[in-house]
Amino acid sequence: MKRFLMCEPKFFEVSYVINPWMEGSIGKVNKALARQQWENLYNTLSKLATVSLIEPVAGLPDMVFTANAGLVQKRAIPKKQFIVSSFRYRERQPEEKYFEEYFSSQGYAVQHLQQGTVFEGAGDALFDTRGTLWVGSGFRSDPRALPEIMTALDIKASALELIDPHWYHLDTAFCPLPEGQLIAYPKAFSEKSVEALKQAFGKNIIWVSEPDARNFACNAVSVDQTIILPKASVEMKAALVQRDFEVIETEVSEFIKAGGACKCLTLEI
Ligand code: ARG
Repeated sequence: MKRFLMCEPKFFEVSYVINPWMEGSIGKVNKALARQQWENLYNTLSKLATVSLIEPVAGLPDMVFTANAGLVQKRAIPKKQFIVSSFRYRERQPEEKYFEEYFSSQGYAVQHLQQGTVFEGAGDALFDTRGTLWVGSGFRSDPRALPEIMTALDIKASALELIDPHWYHLDTAFCPLPEGQLIAYPKAFSEKSVEALKQAFGKNIIWVSEPDARNFACNAVSVDQTIILPKASVEMKAALVQRDFEVIETEVSEFIKAGGACKCLTLEI
């Protein structure tokens, strides 16, 4: 059974701006609604997987986005590995020590990239189901993170270049699915990266439209054949159903005000 880490939105709000979605959203989160939406996601995911929780910390509103805690290598032997994030913006940097403490206490081998290498965890680094790690850069994680991760985890990885600040983390525009399939939004990537994706995934890519991307439809959590996402167009749902996926839509409007959705609120551990 898959296992995920989430963090209750006890202190969630928009109190600073570090991505375009947060502009104009300061103080605009409906906290009761955010709590409801988070619980709906938690309940949905709990039916399909085990969900563990990390204690939220006052003053760290974005800690709910556990995808950014770091990168987990579940396949590592004898211990699972965890590369702790090193956030670009000082507003999120204090989260690092809480995530590090959590993963050490759970018995993971915790690693750090080199001092000064910005890395925002599973927000920017995602394994496809063939075991290749895709690492995004352009807005948050440093391009230097990729070679350092390859060395730290002794794995292969491929670079993807993000070019539009709305899709500042790789997981806002890229979601690997079972059996080498992929959801992606082409305009988030440089031409070279779109080519790299076509080379690697070919016909297995579901390219989404701009309205779907803006609804964070790429920010999906997949457990076997079930895909949990905020909202998808009729076309996108049809493409997924045709590939034998079941789609569950769960609204996360309050979190989109901070620039994150379903996938960002979870971390597979
Ligand atoms: N406000 C957060 C930030 O800008 C949102 C993070 C969303 N997380 C993600 N994995 N895309 O860092």
